[in-house]
Parts: sequence; C-alpha cells; structure tokens
Amino acid sequence: MSAEPFTARNHELPILIQNLTKRFGDFTAVDNVSFNVQSGEVFGWLGPNGAGKTTTIRMLLGLIKPTSGNAFVLGFDSATQTKLVHANVGYMSQQFTLYSDLTAMQNIRFYGGVHGLSSDELRQRIAEIIRTAGLEGRENTLTGSLSGGWKQRLALGCAIVHHPKVVFLDEPTAGVDPISRRQFWELIYQMAKEGVTVLVTTHYMDEAELCQRVGFITGGKLVALDSVSQLKQTQMRGQVLEIGASDPEKAMRILKAAQLNGRIPFDEVALYGAQIHAVMPDAQKYKEAIQRLLMGEDVQVSSIERVAPTLEDVFISSVKAPAAIV
Ligand SMILES: Nc1ncnc2c1ncn2[C@@H]1O[C@H](COP(=O)(O)OP(=O)(O)OP(=O)(O)O)[C@@H](O)[C@H]1O
Ligand SMILES: [Mg+2]
Repeated sequence: MSAEPFTARNHELPILIQNLTKRFGDFTAVDNVSFNVQSGEVFGWLGPNGAGKTTTIRMLLGLIKPTSGNAFVLGFDSATQTKLVHANVGYMSQQFTLYSDLTAMQNIRFYGGVHGLSSDELRQRIAEIIRTAGLEGRENTLTGSLSGGWKQRLALGCAIVHHPKVVFLDEPTAGVDPISRRQFWELIYQMAKEGVTVLVTTHYMDEAELCQRVGFITGGKLVALDSVSQLKQTQMRGQVLEIGASDPEKAMRILKAAQLNGRIPFDEVALYGAQIHAVMPDAQKYKEAIQRLLMGEDVQVSSIERVAPTLEDVFISSVKAPAAIV
C-alpha cells in the first residue's frame, strides 16, 4: 500500500458524495448528487434501470472520473487517491465474474493474491470464507458448477477477502432464489455488525426494506433519501387504497380507463401481488365510487381499504413524479 499520509483524508465518513455529476457526451448519467453513508450502515442505492446507480459506484471506486463534484471513500478522494480507495474497499460488480474454471478455493486464493495477502492470511481467509459462505465440502468444486446462490456468496467472499471497511455490492442477488437471497442478506448484516459499511443496489423491494437508509435515483437525480420508515411517511404524494378483486386484470383495465378519462383522479394504479394498489389524493372520498365502478362491470370486490404505503409504492411515486434533492 502506498505511504500516502493519513492526513490527506478530507473526511472520515465511509462514503461522501458532493454534487457528483457524470456526463457522457450530452447525456447526464449522474446529475448533481450529494449524500453520505455512516460507518456500519447498510445503505440501499435504488433506482430503475439506467438511473445512474452503477455509474455512481464506478465514480466512488475511481474507475471513471466525475465530470464535476467529488466522491470520497473513507476520506480518500476517489478520483485522485484511487489506490488507497481500492485497498480499503470491496466491490462486487453487476457482472462480477468468478473464474468458472477455478475451484471455489482457488478463486478465493486468486483474489487474496491480488490484494497481497500473505500465505498465512490466505489460509485463514479461505477457511473463514468457505465457512461463512456455507461452502464446506464444496471447496474443490469447480465454480462453474456451483448453483447461483453459492456463486453469489463465494463472489462476496472474494470481494471481501482483504477485510475491506467499505463494500459496494451492485445487484448482488440478481437472479437468485429467495432463500439464497435471505442467506446473502444475513452475510451483509454480519459484515455490518463487524463495522463494515455497505452500499448495495437492488431491484428487490423486500431487500430494500432491509436497508437502514435508502437513496432513490432516477434519471441521474437523487429524488429521495431517508430511512425506509421515514420515506413511507414523507415521500408518498397520495394515499394508497388496496383493492382485492375477483378478476384483478380486468379490474386493472377498468381502473386505468377511469384514470385516463379523469373519472377518478388516480396518481397510480398498479398490481401488487394479487391485489391492486391505487394511489390517489383522498382514498376515503373515492372508495365507494371505485367499488361501484368495479361491481358495475361484474368485478367482485372482496376488500377495499386504505393501507400504509409499501416501499414499492414510495419508489413508484418517487420515480414517476421526481423532485430532485439538491
Ligand atoms: N460509458 C458510458 N457511455 C455512455 N453512456 C453510459 C456509459 N455508462 C453508462 N451510461 C448510461 O448512463 C445511464 C446510467 O447507467 P447506469 O449503468 O449507471 O444505470 P443503473 O442505474 O446502474 O441501471 P441498471 O439498474 O440497469 O444496472 C444509462 O443510460 C447508461 O446507458
Ligand atoms: Mg447498474
């Protein structure tokens, strides 16, 4: 590791972003984003496809330079102190590739070698990672033949082989079954308990609910930033009516038509599992009209009640009517 003085640090926060902007030609992928992440926090970095999540992470890692603004990791400027950043962070990229023709153990050894671990440290880390990833008995299995859940946990192990203080996980559980996803999140929380700061992106709202704070980015702009419970109280622009209907698809069509012709001022009508979530300014006022409308078209309404917004409701609301936080 370089002997860059500790005093070169500008801040002690694990992650600090100030007015960070990235343009590709005329296109602004990340637009004047500012936030910070506290020590030991599990921070969810959320947004639709193309929102600018990976671009933000790449700037935090110093892999690409910001057009303007700053990204600091553990006080190191990602753009100019990139080596120091790399020595102290773990990164599981969206296309994280383990070597499929190496065994689980060989992959850990390889990544440990990249980070300059001694052979004693390597031996110890291999044992620890195999144990925490639940890979006992599979040490010598070719990585290519491990199932998705094992691979993701091994990939996380490889990303943290050098005991980083800050870990960036870009959609680490994409395409993994719910049980493996839960096991993966147990590992995330285990790391956080040991003081590691985690920034994680996910499209799974159940995972986002597990984050201590979340930031929503859409079109490159930060549109919400808070704890999940706070966001549910402050970020929703309307009230949510949950509707149970005999034929949800038909009910959706009817309600969408009512939205289009302005009969009911829905902000949003969306399927939420087997139920429908309709967002509107005053749920109580339109409840009976909605019920009559559906019954009039032979759709039975088994339940209709105002519910607290889910994070998914908040997410959709923030993305549809963004108001940038600057
Ligand atoms: N090197 C590049 N050159 C040009 N445009 C780019 C480049 N990298 C990213 N973009 C664009 O910037 C926008 C943000 O991309 P980014 O990968 O950050 O999105 P994301 O939020 O990570 O999306 P996803 O959820 O799909 O991973 C996209 O429109 C993308 O096409
Ligand atoms: Mg991405």
